Amino acid sequence: MAYPYQIQSKEQYDAHYRESVENPEGFWAEVAGHFQWHKPWEKVLDWSFEEPRIEWFRGGRLNITENCLDRHLEQQGDRPAIIWEPNDPGSEGLTLSYRQLLDKVMQLCHVLRRNGVQKGDRVCIYMGMVPELAIATLACARIGAIHSIVFGGFSARSITDRLEDAQAAFVITADGAHRGNKAIPLKSVIDEALEQCAFVKKVIVLRHTGTAISMKEGRDCYWDEEVKQVAAAGKPFFPAESMDAEDPLFILYTSGSTGKPKGVVHTCGGYMVYASYSFVNVFQYQPGDVYFCTADIGWITGHSYIVYGPLLAGATTLIFEGIPTWPDAGRFWDIVDKHRVNILYTAPTAIRSLMSFGTEPIEGHDLSSLKVLGSVGEPINEEAWQWFHEHIGKGRCPLVDTWWQTENGGILISNLAGVTPAIPTFATLPLPGIQPVLVDEKGAPAQPVKQEDGSSITSGNLCIRFPWPGMFRTTYGDHERFRQNYFAAYPGLYFSGDGCYRDDKGNYRITGRVDDVLNVSGHRIGTAEVENAINSDPSVIESAIVGYPHDIKGQGVYAFVVCDPEHTPGEEARKAILQTVTHLIGAIAKPDKIQFVSGLPKTRSGKIMRRILRKIAEGALDSLGDTSTLLDPGVVEEIKAGRV
Ligand code: PRX
Repeated sequence: MAYPYQIQSKEQYDAHYRESVENPEGFWAEVAGHFQWHKPWEKVLDWSFEEPRIEWFRGGRLNITENCLDRHLEQQGDRPAIIWEPNDPGSEGLTLSYRQLLDKVMQLCHVLRRNGVQKGDRVCIYMGMVPELAIATLACARIGAIHSIVFGGFSARSITDRLEDAQAAFVITADGAHRGNKAIPLKSVIDEALEQCAFVKKVIVLRHTGTAISMKEGRDCYWDEEVKQVAAAGKPFFPAESMDAEDPLFILYTSGSTGKPKGVVHTCGGYMVYASYSFVNVFQYQPGDVYFCTADIGWITGHSYIVYGPLLAGATTLIFEGIPTWPDAGRFWDIVDKHRVNILYTAPTAIRSLMSFGTEPIEGHDLSSLKVLGSVGEPINEEAWQWFHEHIGKGRCPLVDTWWQTENGGILISNLAGVTPAIPTFATLPLPGIQPVLVDEKGAPAQPVKQEDGSSITSGNLCIRFPWPGMFRTTYGDHERFRQNYFAAYPGLYFSGDGCYRDDKGNYRITGRVDDVLNVSGHRIGTAEVENAINSDPSVIESAIVGYPHDIKGQGVYAFVVCDPEHTPGEEARKAILQTVTHLIGAIAKPDKIQFVSGLPKTRSGKIMRRILRKIAEGALDSLGDTSTLLDPGVVEEIKAGRV
């Protein structure tokens, strides 16, 4: 068997699950034993959710890239590690074998070292979906630098915030990126971001789109020229830095319900074990399979399931530069046929968007290579589930609905393809090692409620009561925020921020966020962040953001905005607000709807009643509940009447 820890049957799942709860340390030590370590760990697990402190495999030393690359050379050095499919179907793609990928990673390690990067330094990576993005990620990991990848759609201001928070002195970027028919000027966005970041010492720039850019003498250098220098010096090998299992591997910024995005910190040992374990089990990857995850490497899904998870398993991972609907809505299906893709992992928002084109773009495609389908990022509605299963999977491919979060490092709740049963719209069962609990508002265990058909359902806030190796260890530079955000609501538990229910067979169905975080096209958007952006517009006094059901995006962003009486709210103001949000955060956070109002519904203590605004945005105008305790109940009528 290729993966000694790959579960083969439901009975085996049950047995492994039981063991992982009864003897978690023994269970994870056994899995971790299948990786390459420079030095064994001294203690498998040391933890307290009260402090909070989580340590896995303490004292163990390793480098994740040796496990992703070097380890596979002997058996499969010439097998494809990465298949790159460019944005434009007419351009030439690229396939890199494990040996070629390692060579390129080591070359870039030399480049990083030449430019002064040392173990522990933070390196910000801002690139499109090109193979060099994976190479840059792995080169950082090999040298022991902490990568902080920023999604290519974020604005200059968002990059500045992240660079400052991480005190990253190095940036790796490209001249530009292609996405559908758009060209994204990455380097000029970086230039703008760096106006505020004098501490950035070096910027390495990949030539990709050929867009004209400016280079700052002494600070900026070209990737290809640097690689040439390294090659001329004839130093092909670059030894992997020996890292402690608990040394940080990367920081990834994500939005919360308050303040600025927080830097989620993942460490080397535990993350490696969990990314690989979850990958081979959920997708049931078999050697030789071609695996295609459509996420962007700038999000956690790309970190764990385009780069690390697949490469740790010696898999072939496909990186696609473009978007599902360009040049037409058959692009994914062309790719599946062209590369004989066996496993396709995508997002409900992509599925819904493709559904809206009907089945015509699928016609003429074979799709017979597909064996497993996967979904991630938000709850998948029944209609999208059935469409994906029937029209793409032709009713014969198991579909895994994978629930997890940036903070989790890997999939926590999901069926295992073809091994444990799928139930449409249910993420179903926790992976071994994951112990979910549902609690009520006060933190007491949620109680089952009998249904008319005799079954029972337990519903509550989704928490996890025991650590798993892939969980994050802190929020960068602010451990107190880590405690407050995740461990303070329910003492002794990690709180996910999601609502959920469980049937009487133990299957979980995630219902969505219960905090002030929106999930727009599978992207997390903090309402406070968008409000702060809107409020910075000089014509705005205050604003409130809520989500509302959106056919394609899952949730849309609805903004209620109070303008300064001197400004007449209108088209101009609307445009200005959209521009401000794009400038401060990025186009992904732009409100879909803006309603100008004269005031917001507030309690007597001044708290905005979001519950009421949510109902109005949803169009549930008759179920607003009691509004008599509001400071100014009249404002509700005005808002209802002006709904857009
Ligand atoms: O609300 C849940 C939703 O996405 C949130 C996590 O977002 P992020 O950290 O950006 O990571 C997304 C990709 C892992 C969760 O709190 N979510 C993610 N997957 C699912 C989901 N909701 C329901 N079902 C899922 N399969």
